[in-house]
Amino acid sequence: MSISGTVRTRWRGLLVLAAAGAALLGFCVARQLDRVAPSLASGTWLPRPRAIADFALIGANGRTYSRADLARAPTLVYFGFTHCPDVCPTTLAKLAQVHRLAALATLRVLFVSIDPGRDTPEAVGRYAHAFDPSFEGVTGRPEEIRAVARSFAVAVNRVELPGGDYTMDHSAVIFLVDPRGIVAIFTPPFEVPALAADLRRAVPYLAPPQERRPT
Ligand code: NI
Repeated sequence: MSISGTVRTRWRGLLVLAAAGAALLGFCVARQLDRVAPSLASGTWLPRPRAIADFALIGANGRTYSRADLARAPTLVYFGFTHCPDVCPTTLAKLAQVHRLAALATLRVLFVSIDPGRDTPEAVGRYAHAFDPSFEGVTGRPEEIRAVARSFAVAVNRVELPGGDYTMDHSAVIFLVDPRGIVAIFTPPFEVPALAADLRRAVPYLAPPQERRPT
């Protein structure tokens, strides 16, 4: 083979390599675009998942809950208290409708009490369960509740009422959590059909559940 023939062969080889590289790159970009989560009508994806600090809370029958439990299934987390006169029962009733409408068997709902002084594990468990048999309620020691609320950036404020009673002001945000942490937030007012449609769209884009406790 002449010198020029060798050079031509090398050029041809390089061109083939470049074409293969471009095709691979195009394939990867297409895959990336394919994985871009759809925009939500009633909520917002966080720019990146917000990690949650580990926690130890207690539900009905003494069952303990930690961050590892949140990694086992996509979960909607809502903070409130069983004595809440309106916002919590309204939100949980809507979540029960959303849960039925979205028909997402894998999606869990966890109600976290921010009133550990009055909400025993049995009380909060029974309360959540009353809205939907699959809903779970948890509470814990006051310092643990404060830490979890801080982790989710939930504002909690005890308000004294005349006569020695008190109520709790709290954020009414619904958090969508996957093994990476908080991935999306939903803020009131909650519209049942829109929220159900959002969740059906969002769940396929969540990180797969982790069966085992992360180390
Ligand atoms: Ni409430």
